[in-house]
Amino acid sequence: MCGIVAAVGSDNVLPVLMEGLRRLEYRGYDSAGVALVEQPGKLGRAREVGKVAALEQVLAGVPLVGMTGVAHTRWATHGQPSQVNAHPHVSGRIAVVHNGIIENHGALRAQLEAEGYPFTSETDTEVVAHLIEREHRDGGSLVDAVSRAVDLLVGAYALGVIHADEPGRVIGARQGSPLVLGVGDQGHYLGSDPLALLPVTDRFIYLEDGDLVVATRGGWEVQARSTEGDRRLVSRPVVRYEHDDLSVGKGEFDHYMLKEIHEQPVAVANALEGRLGDDKVRIEALGPGAEALLAATRQVHIVACGTSYHAGLVARYWLEELAGVPCQVEVASEYRYREVVASPGTLFLTLSQSGETADTLAALRHACTRQGEAAFIGSLAICNVPGSSLVRESDLAVMTHAGPEIGVASTKAFTTQLAALMLVTLALRQVRGGEAGLTARLVHRLRYLPTLLGDALALDADIATLAGRFLDRRHTLFLGRGAQMPIAREGALKLKEISYIHAEAYAAGELKHGPLALIDASMPVVAVAPMDGLLEKLKSNLQEVRARGGELLVFADPDAGLHAEAGMTVVCVPACCRYLAPIVYALPLQLLAYHVAAARGTDVDQPRNLAKSVTVE
Ligand code: G6P
Repeated sequence: MCGIVAAVGSDNVLPVLMEGLRRLEYRGYDSAGVALVEQPGKLGRAREVGKVAALEQVLAGVPLVGMTGVAHTRWATHGQPSQVNAHPHVSGRIAVVHNGIIENHGALRAQLEAEGYPFTSETDTEVVAHLIEREHRDGGSLVDAVSRAVDLLVGAYALGVIHADEPGRVIGARQGSPLVLGVGDQGHYLGSDPLALLPVTDRFIYLEDGDLVVATRGGWEVQARSTEGDRRLVSRPVVRYEHDDLSVGKGEFDHYMLKEIHEQPVAVANALEGRLGDDKVRIEALGPGAEALLAATRQVHIVACGTSYHAGLVARYWLEELAGVPCQVEVASEYRYREVVASPGTLFLTLSQSGETADTLAALRHACTRQGEAAFIGSLAICNVPGSSLVRESDLAVMTHAGPEIGVASTKAFTTQLAALMLVTLALRQVRGGEAGLTARLVHRLRYLPTLLGDALALDADIATLAGRFLDRRHTLFLGRGAQMPIAREGALKLKEISYIHAEAYAAGELKHGPLALIDASMPVVAVAPMDGLLEKLKSNLQEVRARGGELLVFADPDAGLHAEAGMTVVCVPACCRYLAPIVYALPLQLLAYHVAAARGTDVDQPRNLAKSVTVE
């Protein structure tokens, strides 16, 4: 939520800032802004409602030039998207960009207004600009002023700060929202995500909560809060970003989402790479200490948000059936505020594409505070972003290796999470002495999974044609049973978030308990029907829909015995074993959502009101 980027160099940094904003646009895109020290004592600022492209147009008419600057792309929390609410916010000769939420902004605002500071926006961020200005007014260093100001803040922030009188210096601060320092040859940079800065550097310092950083053209220093409460210089490792910069360009595809859907065979192959032995999962390849942690596991609590939560719901079926481990799955925003009962030996497992989702992180931090008998035996994160907060703060991190995912609607991050969850399930099965034959068969099928996913993608053109039927529909129902029920939920989520068609998902067995009342000829019903022990039950549910005139679109196994008939369209999905079917069936539902949205002309990659990385509560 909100992306910040800052730069200090020996040349005009505006191009670096604008490219950074384009790359951070997945974090929010309702307005954007930039401020530069144009010359000592003079700040130039431009802000515009809408996407980064709108800001670019403004800058094309009135370019800004400077070697020190900050920039921001916004996802509105306090105050509607408008030019006055767009960042950077300025107080005196200080400009500030902020990602996060200042929870005590109301009290601070009242205090600052009483002191005579004029407020021009409805944002929580403007208090930060005024606080820094107040702390700096009587002289002293800018970093000390920022330090005193942030000590007054309650909430989450990543900040970038510049001062008109201090060209060549950018201050950053981090508490609860992600911030990296990019170490370049031509300058130094701050970004919410390394992706923003890959055109200028592949070396990063992942700042920690409480850190302040001073970046100049030739160097940087990081200050951390010591146990005594004062700030001390610290050394933080510079880490090389190991991944390809895949974010540039959509290739042959119209949208990043479609590109990412089609990347899934490769992404899942990467998630499995090096982790499968001949007949077993190579537990040591899941990370140091994995075997001991899993051997001690008696129960699993899975916590996640959005699409990642749906991956957790699938994993519950696997963990209980294949590993015999009781499992509960909950959205992080609920879990974090509940008094959870966990029996001894409970593993705390988080799922997150970004590793920065505020609720998931808060749940992990809350879990880590449990003491004595209530303590978890450890935390395991399944995550796509190396160096993210979740990865750094968990005992064990299994990376999904999906590569950067740009489309706001998650696709390859989901299926790679499922692949990683199957690896963890089988690893648990192994350490618990589960029957080896089924483990070996599943390991072999996992090797074949990328090929199966490729086969499922061959349905793309057929699904694009079928999408036409949904264009003028206002509601859709998705049905599934067993481990396919979460896939139905994910299908409904995909459709609603990018096409804006209302979609609900139900366990098909629940149909008679309410949703059947909605069924008529105007309500399309999408169902997933692989070969599993619940297929016949599902077929009965589908008959119940047909009997009420509902129009069915069924994604089914070729041997499911389901055939097209009046009111029922059947799309055959490549035959697959029931355990891996949730991963395979996810793809046609992603394609359906994509093609419906694309045909309706929505902004597929950046749907309204959403953002990819939800770093605020
Ligand atoms: C947002 C995104 C979703 C994502 C969810 C959780 O809602 O739009 O695609 O599933 O956050 O994000 P995470 O990074 O924790 O998986």
